[in-house]
Amino acid sequence: MITMTLRQIADAVGGRLEPADAGDVRVDGAVISDSRLAEPGSLYVARVGEFADGHDFASAAAESGAVATLGSRAIEGMPTVVVDDVQTAFGVLARAVVDRADDLRIVGITGSSGKTSTKDLLGQVLSPLADSVVPEGSFNSEMGVPLTVCRVSTGTRYLVAEMGADGVGHIAYLTRIAPPHVGIVLNVGRAHVGEFGSVEAIAQTKGELVEALPADGLAVLNADDPRVAAMKSRSMAPVLLVGTGEHADLRAVDIELDDKSRASYTLVGDGEPRRIWLGLFGVHHVGNSLAVYAAARHLGVDADHIVSVFENAAAVSRWRMEVHELGNGVTIVNDAYNANPDSMAAALRALSTMTACGRKVAVLGQMLELGESSAEEHAGVGRKAAEFGVDLLITVGAGADAIGSAAQAAGVECKHVDDVDAAFRLLTGTLKPGDIALLKSSRDCGLRYLGDRLVDTDGKGARA
Ligand SMILES: Nc1ncnc2c1ncn2[C@@H]1O[C@H](COP(=O)(O)OP(=O)(O)OP(=O)(O)O)[C@@H](O)[C@H]1O
Ligand SMILES: [Mg+2]
Repeated sequence: MITMTLRQIADAVGGRLEPADAGDVRVDGAVISDSRLAEPGSLYVARVGEFADGHDFASAAAESGAVATLGSRAIEGMPTVVVDDVQTAFGVLARAVVDRADDLRIVGITGSSGKTSTKDLLGQVLSPLADSVVPEGSFNSEMGVPLTVCRVSTGTRYLVAEMGADGVGHIAYLTRIAPPHVGIVLNVGRAHVGEFGSVEAIAQTKGELVEALPADGLAVLNADDPRVAAMKSRSMAPVLLVGTGEHADLRAVDIELDDKSRASYTLVGDGEPRRIWLGLFGVHHVGNSLAVYAAARHLGVDADHIVSVFENAAAVSRWRMEVHELGNGVTIVNDAYNANPDSMAAALRALSTMTACGRKVAVLGQMLELGESSAEEHAGVGRKAAEFGVDLLITVGAGADAIGSAAQAAGVECKHVDDVDAAFRLLTGTLKPGDIALLKSSRDCGLRYLGDRLVDTDGKGARA
């Protein structure tokens, strides 16, 4: 973090210092909310959660070098900035950090699917060029965004902020913490529709990102998603539409996929058309990469640099279309970080474009947080499995069987197992050389670890 004294922090968040004479204590280490990540000079953010009270871990943070706590009550023996609402104060602190940075450009990324993939790709483009802060994993919430923002130091030039939401107003809130100069909206899908109530409410929320952009910023909108393209009218900033359709300003045409579903395309709309190759697996990265290209160009990045990063890009965050070729000739595609109907469809499409000498096997678990439409959405995924030519579908756990019933009705061979252990036994006995197995489910269903287990058991597996 940009070094601040406790007096400055208390003033910024409107908090009270305990003890009152601790104002000169300097926070010059990482701002953390997990006491195990404390380092010398850290500020520890103590929250009262559903299951644990963060204040109980302040002394552990102090043992590792944390110099102060931001909390809702004083910690004995440790300087504390005491506030009524830690969450709100933390957001205000993060914004104070942004305001102290000299030359910071923030790119905000939202959408129902692909935020982390896009954030990681943009991070790979920007990081070699200048001091950049790019969150690890999926830090996109009211805690994840301020934790990321607080990593900004005096020399930081770029901050890539993933912004997630499960209710109206959430993105607007995050943009007040990390005011973006460039905003990317990828898609409006059905992720979290249970909490939002409707797809329209999701579109309303994702569009809050473009409403936050300044007149000299840039809104990068997916031209292929009508709900995203319609956000044009909500932007004060210039808009660049990216996509495959004719109305896109920056377009990908002549898309081709190699035998592992890596895309290449011709980029039209930025000087002479040029061929782009992506090192990432899955055709959905075409849209993600167009958005990254547009954002990076607006920030003044050289086109050749972007194109060469795309070609050498690798999955940074785990369990997103990870392709493992095992020593026994089986290929495991572990895309089980999470799942919603749109990302299920994207993954099944990717599987369908991969070349297998054996079978295409889909191992699918439940999609959570779909609300009332859940049963119909699961059936829809079953029909997609049939449409994309899955040879064998294995559904895992309660809630996934609705996928199987619909797939079976559409002619796909299906098996159901109750849990990941049973799935592991079935798969190790069933998969043959040449087969490709795709694993995908919501996070809590744990299929990502099943994928890891299959790779580890093989012992000779190497990541492709
Ligand atoms: N543009 C896209 N359209 C549809 N699916 C995508 C797209 N980009 C990535 N995916 C797929 O969606 C899943 C989630 O990807 P990613 O983690 O990048 O999304 P996210 O928006 O960050 O998700 P979360 O809301 O959980 O943070 C992955 O399985 C990935 O393969
Ligand atoms: Mg994410």
